[in-house]
Amino acid sequence: MQSGLEDVVAAETVLSDVDGLNGRLIIRGASLDDLAGQRFEAIVTRLFGGFFEGLPDTDGLAAALGDARAKVFANVAAADRQLLQLGPVEAVRALTARLADGDDLPTALDLLAAAAVFTPAVLRLREGKPAIPPDPHLAHSADVLRMLTGAMPAPASAKALDTYLTTVSDHGLNASTFAARVVASTQAGLTSAVLAAISALKGPLHGGAPGPVLDMLDAIGTPEQAEGWLDGALDRGERLMGFGHRVYRVRDPRADALKTAVRTMVAEGAVDPARVKLAEGVEAAALAILKRRKPDRSLDTNVEFYTALLLEALGFPRDAFTAVFAMGRTAGWIAHAREQVLGGRLIRPQSVYVGPRPQQAA
Ligand code: COA
Repeated sequence: MQSGLEDVVAAETVLSDVDGLNGRLIIRGASLDDLAGQRFEAIVTRLFGGFFEGLPDTDGLAAALGDARAKVFANVAAADRQLLQLGPVEAVRALTARLADGDDLPTALDLLAAAAVFTPAVLRLREGKPAIPPDPHLAHSADVLRMLTGAMPAPASAKALDTYLTTVSDHGLNASTFAARVVASTQAGLTSAVLAAISALKGPLHGGAPGPVLDMLDAIGTPEQAEGWLDGALDRGERLMGFGHRVYRVRDPRADALKTAVRTMVAEGAVDPARVKLAEGVEAAALAILKRRKPDRSLDTNVEFYTALLLEALGFPRDAFTAVFAMGRTAGWIAHAREQVLGGRLIRPQSVYVGPRPQQAA
């Protein structure tokens, strides 16, 4: 048995290929390096192509997604005090659970809109501020930031969120996507598949890491203190957040796309250069230490490291980072769920029983 199902092939997909040895991510025939500059609506159209009847072009999808944002905003009224005491991703999950299940394009668009609308809404409501309704005419990323802050975002910020959402939109058979496919294979519907995926995503070994990356940067404080702090963490048996990956044995290409976006924000004054200098110093120290202390392992920077800086600069609190991850990854979850329903069988593997057996009768 392969522990953690490592190297086990559990699906055929046309959606994405994670080339761990060469550090390349292909999404439907194109390299992430070429896609990272596109708007989120374009990657959704790419991922959904062939999986839904009546799928419009990118402009049509942008308009339909705007309408879906306006529609799901009505569900924000269900955010009561008890719900707002949950963490943001759990609150988003609870609100998403109120959406109808289905397998069609309107359901898919409602689910894409859900995390985008519910995340800024619960963040404002828990601070006692009113939720801001969507503007269906705006681009998706710009509208998310406007719903978060109440002001139109700078173009560099909207572009950075687009880069982030596009970069994380799909990534092979990761844990949350597998969860989505397992649920989809029972024909439970897209809402059920996305809810399962959100639940898998929130763990610190998957999408829950970028918040802890910032905690680590805060604890380190200055680039000069990085080496001593990181060595101490490894001495205590801790893992360095934002490093290592199950599939990538070299640098995660998504880390590069996000690092470039963060540098663009620095150039346009949208992020504190000292914060970026600290992160780059910590990254360099961590890579050197991991190489020295784990020479047999190939541990490099993963997507979460620069995600942390980017989302912090956009004004998202760190406990909401997983919910923002869900905004982008929902596109991939839905596409995989549809691919599973259209071409796959019920996913039902075997287990090996290693417990005690009942006594044989004499
Ligand atoms: N810091 C320190 N050591 C690490 C490490 C990290 N970030 N990531 C892996 N390792 C070490 C493990 O301790 C283990 O060493 P050992 O065999 O000497 O005990 C070895 O590398 C392999 O670890 P393993 O747990 O088999 O890797 P995995 O494929 O199961 O785990 C992650 C992958 C992502 C869960 C893991 O790298 C990790 O925990 N990273 C930190 C959290 C993170 O950034 N998550 C976001 C992922 S996108």
